[in-house]
Amino acid sequence: MKRESFGSRLGFILVSAGCAIGIGNVWKFPYICGAYGGAAFILIYLCFLVILGIPVLVAEFAVGRGSHTSVAKCFDKLAPAGSCWKPLKFIGIIGCYMLMMFYTTVGGWMIYYCVKSLRGDFVGATPEAVTQSFSDMLGNAPTMMLWMVIICLIGFAVCFMGLQNGIEKISKVMMSALLIIMVILAVHSVMMEGAGEGIRFYLIPDFQKIKEAGVGNVVFAALSQSFFTLSIGIGAMLIFGSYLDKSRSLTGEAVSITVLDTFVALTAGFIIIPACFSYGIQPDAGPSLIFITLPNVFQQAFSGVPILAYIFSVMFYVLLAMAALTSTISLHEVVTAYLHEEFNFTRGKAARLVTGGCIFLGILCSLSLGVMKGFTIFGLGIFDLFDFVTAKIMLTLGGLCISIFTGWYLDKKIVWSEITNDGSLKVPVYKLIIFILRYIAPIAISLIFINELGLIKL
Ligand code: TRP
Repeated sequence: MKRESFGSRLGFILVSAGCAIGIGNVWKFPYICGAYGGAAFILIYLCFLVILGIPVLVAEFAVGRGSHTSVAKCFDKLAPAGSCWKPLKFIGIIGCYMLMMFYTTVGGWMIYYCVKSLRGDFVGATPEAVTQSFSDMLGNAPTMMLWMVIICLIGFAVCFMGLQNGIEKISKVMMSALLIIMVILAVHSVMMEGAGEGIRFYLIPDFQKIKEAGVGNVVFAALSQSFFTLSIGIGAMLIFGSYLDKSRSLTGEAVSITVLDTFVALTAGFIIIPACFSYGIQPDAGPSLIFITLPNVFQQAFSGVPILAYIFSVMFYVLLAMAALTSTISLHEVVTAYLHEEFNFTRGKAARLVTGGCIFLGILCSLSLGVMKGFTIFGLGIFDLFDFVTAKIMLTLGGLCISIFTGWYLDKKIVWSEITNDGSLKVPVYKLIIFILRYIAPIAISLIFINELGLIKL
């Protein structure tokens, strides 16, 4: 990637938000919220976003802008001589790579659902038939592999040909369109017959539900989802900091991205949760939740005008696939750039290697939900394992390390100059962020982790 500053403030926000906003918001957030108790989970999730998410995002931006480079090189440049921070880049590179395999699997489902809605498969289908068609897809190995490979190849083409700029331009329009459609669908879902129970589940905290799911599990899920949704912990957002010039406040940008990202996630919840209560779908159905709920929503929302249902559903899945693609590309780019810079591979060779490996492991990941269900490692199928290792372990541990690195080890002058723009921004904000990075984030993340390992019980 060429290092350049963004032409407009909106340009930066939309592109970095394009990396943050993805299937994590539309697919993962509703199902995790459904599985971990609804409104009470959201409250904890929002607290983590504000208390930990924004400061860690600021830390990533600061490291990116302070080093003018990506996660692959930043610690080589900024870590104090003789310190042991350099290997931290591997959490970033390996994390991005593993996340990409899991991500392309779900991205592949999105493309497949574009095709299914284009073919009109859901027209007139009952909720049962819609649910069945998702399990059929999981059991259909060639289909799963095909769409997963296609999304990898598109990612490859974009990274290989350096088309990121083009994609960024398209993604601005696409993201705005996605937001508009989502708001329309959310308004419809909320007004649907039988939505009341879902809205209560979504908006009125019931702490009993958290107890049922296990307090420690809910807190851990909220922490990992807040990092996943902001793309923090494995240095993927770091590069965007390096594109920002000193006229921008890193904290201001981090807050804007978080607000936009949260708006999308909460709107997705407003579409899915009331709708699944109204159709009698269990909110804790897991990864299948949006795939078995959304086709019903489209049919109902535009029941008088089938052609609108058709157009909106095709557009929606195209936009979701695009959202998945922009995030996939930013992950692909991290690993490609690393191979290119570290081993002097040409970009083409680096991109080919990344894509080849991703297709191989991604296929295993895709199949582990269907035909390879019986194959497990530590009791988890490959899809669940990648999800667990990246979202729950690498992002949170990476976030912990970035906090400690920025709070304690990064040259104080750099931290101060990045966060306050050489003293021109408010000092209390700087102090608060440093306090969080030094004390709150390390202690909170470690405690949640230790609890999850079963050493102490919340
Ligand atoms: N934030 C993205 C989403 O919500 C997922 C994602 C993309 C990501 N790149 C990342 C998560 C890097 C962590 C790190 O869909």
